[in-house]
Amino acid sequence: MEEQVRIAKKTSEQGLKPFIRWAGGKQNLIKEIYKNLNFTDVNRYFEPFLGGASFFMNGNFQHSFLSDLNPNLTNCYQQIKDNPGAIFQGLSTFITPVTQETYYSIRNEFNLHNGQQTLEQAVRFIFLNRTSFNGIYRVNKSGLYNVPFGKPNPAFSTLEQLNNISNKLKSATIFNGYYDEISNLVLANDLIYLDPPYPKLSDTAYFNHYTLDKFDNNEQEKVAQFANDMRERGIKVVISNADLEQIRNLYTAWNIIECSAYRYISCKKEKIKVKELIIKNF
Ligand SMILES: C[S@@+](CC[C@H](N)C(=O)[O-])C[C@H]1O[C@@H](n2cnc3c(N)ncnc32)[C@H](O)[C@@H]1O
Repeated sequence: MEEQVRIAKKTSEQGLKPFIRWAGGKQNLIKEIYKNLNFTDVNRYFEPFLGGASFFMNGNFQHSFLSDLNPNLTNCYQQIKDNPGAIFQGLSTFITPVTQETYYSIRNEFNLHNGQQTLEQAVRFIFLNRTSFNGIYRVNKSGLYNVPFGKPNPAFSTLEQLNNISNKLKSATIFNGYYDEISNLVLANDLIYLDPPYPKLSDTAYFNHYTLDKFDNNEQEKVAQFANDMRERGIKVVISNADLEQIRNLYTAWNIIECSAYRYISCKKEKIKVKELIIKNF
């Protein structure tokens, strides 16, 4: 029998800062999310739309399963878990202010080694994330990263921050895959946090430009179906999504809490307040 684990709710001051910028990241909202969740006894934690991992970074779970469809992203978590010092050293070799030339040369290298599960590729990923325009992750039709240069003075995590993240990841299993692949692993009384790419809010919205496959309405319906299946199996589920009628209609039998967050919605450096939902079954 799985050991019952007490989950301490933590404030974001106590939580760890993500090491990347991530579109749709929950860093600004995480306090609000935790405030609205009342769970004490769960067995294990699953976060299959990992991104910047704000929920995991602010929780206190005995064992976690962290996954994402982006293999370059999950590789970073694995490399930081295994070798935070080498990641820090790799990032320290970049001279600031970063020039356009350096940015595009690292981008080429990154694309040449696309998907490789190496320390060097993790360093390139973090470097590009921190120096690119808005920190978005977008690929072209061939699956190659194509975000332009944007930030000559990047703020990388300190060695202490990377060590702390590494320690936290020691109790996590990290893998690359579709979110529904966790269905063979989850058991009653586990907790799942689902934070899928949101529906497009405007033609220029960057929210769902994560992977080659865009996340359309059909995908949103599949996530809702998946969440309902998990719920019927006695699993605790929390979902984040945009406050849109099409989303509310998918979760009529769930507890829905409204909240709001500031987000970039266009290619301009413009942030607006958008309404989001916390959807849960407990
Ligand atoms: C909204 S972001 C998650 C943000 C994260 N909660 C945070 O705080 O930064 C959505 C993530 O889902 C991933 N993703 C997209 N389609 C997926 C799929 N079918 N299965 C698993 N992950 C997917 C993207 O790569 C992206 O990292």
